[in-house]
Amino acid sequence: MLRLDKYISNATDLSRSEVKRYIKFGDVTIDDQPATNPAQKVSGTESICIDGSAIHLPQSRYFMLNKPVGVVSATKDNNNTTALDLIYEHRSAELQIAGRLDIDTTGLLLVTDDGQWNHRLTSPRSDCQKIYRVTLGIPITADYQQKLANGVWLEGEKHPCLPATMDIIDDRTVLLSIAEGKYHQVKRMFAALGNHVEALHRTQVGGIVLDPLLEPGDYRALTEEEVASIL
Ligand code: URA
Repeated sequence: MLRLDKYISNATDLSRSEVKRYIKFGDVTIDDQPATNPAQKVSGTESICIDGSAIHLPQSRYFMLNKPVGVVSATKDNNNTTALDLIYEHRSAELQIAGRLDIDTTGLLLVTDDGQWNHRLTSPRSDCQKIYRVTLGIPITADYQQKLANGVWLEGEKHPCLPATMDIIDDRTVLLSIAEGKYHQVKRMFAALGNHVEALHRTQVGGIVLDPLLEPGDYRALTEEEVASIL
């Protein structure tokens, strides 16, 4: 339950004092009855109108961006273009990045103003699989798959990584699927195997696959199914 003046202010661009003025002049109705008390609690199931027009709290928003190289996964940066600079939406200050990519990593970046959804995706306890196409500096060797399945030990970490799976495209290109999101995780995993990552591209997060129609720098809203796939 929210106070009526806060509800209206959240649902519109009006300040709380402007809302109070509308209420005072009898311009706000709840289920067709004039509202008189700005502190009255509302649930949002009521029909709330200002000057006869119904208002609603904004819905949460969810986007996928095909992040290009050179763009930082941050909301503000003095030197580089940020992912949010590429998202042309109202109230963009409310948007947050759900699971960062390095400046030189490309591909699927999720952006939302739904904090709980973001948390479900990115919390250390989330077991959401992320798939990366990895281009390596030198050819892979036969022991990689087993070592990744056992859990690679990253330098400076107290515990090994969770088991990862690797599909081979060619001897220097693989699809790696991991459940965690440690700092520079994929680059550090291949460093631990004596290789180095030359290019990294995220193709999938949980059930959400990067839309092949999105050019680098383009974005689109997620479908309801994509949003709901993050449980
Ligand atoms: N792992 C990395 O090393 N970098 C990324 O951007 C994402 C995962």
